[in-house]
Amino acid sequence: MNAEDRMQMEVSAREDLTSHICQFTLVKQGGGDLPAFTPGAHITIETPSGAMRRYSLVNDGSAPTEYVISVKREPESRGGSASMHDDAQVGTVLSVEAPENDFELVDAKSYLLIGGGIGITPILSMARKLKAEGKPFQLIYCTRSAEETAYLEECQSFDNVIIHHDGGDIDEVYDFWDHFEEPGKEHVYCCGPAPLMEEIEAISGHWPEQQIHFEDFNAVSVVRDDDKPFNVTLAKSGRTIEIPADRSILEALRDAGEETVSSCESGTCGTCKCKLVEGDVDHRDLVLMDEEKSDHIMICVSRAKAGDLVVDL
Ligand code: FES
Repeated sequence: MNAEDRMQMEVSAREDLTSHICQFTLVKQGGGDLPAFTPGAHITIETPSGAMRRYSLVNDGSAPTEYVISVKREPESRGGSASMHDDAQVGTVLSVEAPENDFELVDAKSYLLIGGGIGITPILSMARKLKAEGKPFQLIYCTRSAEETAYLEECQSFDNVIIHHDGGDIDEVYDFWDHFEEPGKEHVYCCGPAPLMEEIEAISGHWPEQQIHFEDFNAVSVVRDDDKPFNVTLAKSGRTIEIPADRSILEALRDAGEETVSSCESGTCGTCKCKLVEGDVDHRDLVLMDEEKSDHIMICVSRAKAGDLVVDL
């Protein structure tokens, strides 16, 4: 989407749902209707820091005059969620791309909705719609604790709901097996942290693939079919490492025994940011601001556009 297709939207309200999650209501500057959307849709916002971020829409999208999103302050955030929390105050104007939906509800007889943490946002939007239409669904909502659970009361009010808190303990995570042991007829929608989605993907392997739907914001393509190999030289050691066509820089450095830090590995969190010493970069992340692109690179997704790269590692 081009910059000129973006809407200027004003924060009309903000509300802390938990100590880390804030709900923002955005209206069109000057008022008026907004493009409609369906449950599961997201908008892309240029956050006050300049970093682009995608957020699922929570409100009813049939004839919206506002967009409602919830943002969790990520501990690693250097530009996106922290800047929304700190700098998107009531009255702040943000540039917003119209809703898109890669996580559309299909028509089915019943649904199993699974939300983990802030991943509840598209799931809640679906639950509200299914409830309004009187369609059967079960919601499983996993979080650390009641205090860290956004929309807890509303979720508790659904007829068929399991809310599970694991206290951050890996041994206490919810056991989904009973729901997946026998392939069912329901369509499964899952959004949450990577381990949750990986777990659902793993235990639903014997289900028809088209019944299992995931929303991850890892839509940034890490490796593309036409990618070529190139070399990255680490300025501090002088070591040169070949980056194969089918590996990211981060993966290839790790393969070569170099220590690297990362988190999302999808160009969205900012953790793997490196200084670029030399080279022409094909930037594929959603983190770097325009003015940073000449001398920084997110090594989890970006590659050389042509020639080789030298990074300050
Ligand atoms: S690890 Fe998150 S942007 Fe690279």
